Amino acid sequence: MTVQPAHPRFVSLEGGEGAGKTTVLAALREALQRDGDEVVCTREPGGTPLAEMIRALLLDPGHEPPAAETELLLMFAARAQHVRETIRPALERGAWVLCDRFTDSSYAYQGGGRGLDPAFIAALEHHVVGLRPGLTLLLDIDVASGRARARGRDPRPDRIERERDEFFERVRCAYRARAAAEPERFRIVDAAQPAAAVAAEAVRQLRQWRAHAPGVRP
Ligand SMILES: Nc1ncnc2c1ncn2[C@@H]1O[C@H](COP(=O)(O)OP(=O)(O)O)[C@@H](O)[C@H]1O
Ligand SMILES: [Mg+2]
Repeated sequence: MTVQPAHPRFVSLEGGEGAGKTTVLAALREALQRDGDEVVCTREPGGTPLAEMIRALLLDPGHEPPAAETELLLMFAARAQHVRETIRPALERGAWVLCDRFTDSSYAYQGGGRGLDPAFIAALEHHVVGLRPGLTLLLDIDVASGRARARGRDPRPDRIERERDEFFERVRCAYRARAAAEPERFRIVDAAQPAAAVAAEAVRQLRQWRAHAPGVRP
């Protein structure tokens, strides 16, 4: 399967529950806006009205658990819409797109966590997505610390947050394997540091990327 073309102004944040993705996204947005760039912040699953409805279905603990394949296909259904309605139009008009999770989450959660075949995920990525971030920041933290933070943020976990520690260990392992396999795209940030230090490191990585990425104004 061919590697999808990467867009230099498309940046994704990845990592487990409570790693600090949403917190870091706000810091990255501020840094880019201060420099005068247009920034679109979005998230997965979600990022369009229809995709947000699919998100609600995916995270609702109130119906029977979806089969792993159902979960994967709903994730990609939401992503298909998100890429076409939100991400591509923003990139085409010259904005940065900062995305809280993208296709790497499917490899980590539905691949690593649920055990679905990565070749099946790659086929969906090829046919449905056709685009990769130029830069992916992987916020890496041990499972127990990340989960403790997520519980502090919201005591009512969604359906996926209710999974066992072993599931999230597999997710973390899959993320790290992906980062090792694509070192030109991934930067690993030690997310166990205090929030200000994590944000500063992420901003530093993004600025360094912007200064050197082909086709991006320094
Ligand atoms: N580096 C950090 N140190 C301590 N707490 C943090 C840190 N980063 C985020 N938090 C807090 O942990 C919780 C989860 O952070 P969040 O950004 O929502 O994580 P994610 O989006 O990866 O699930 C929030 O309450 C947030 O304020
Ligand atoms: Mg979040």
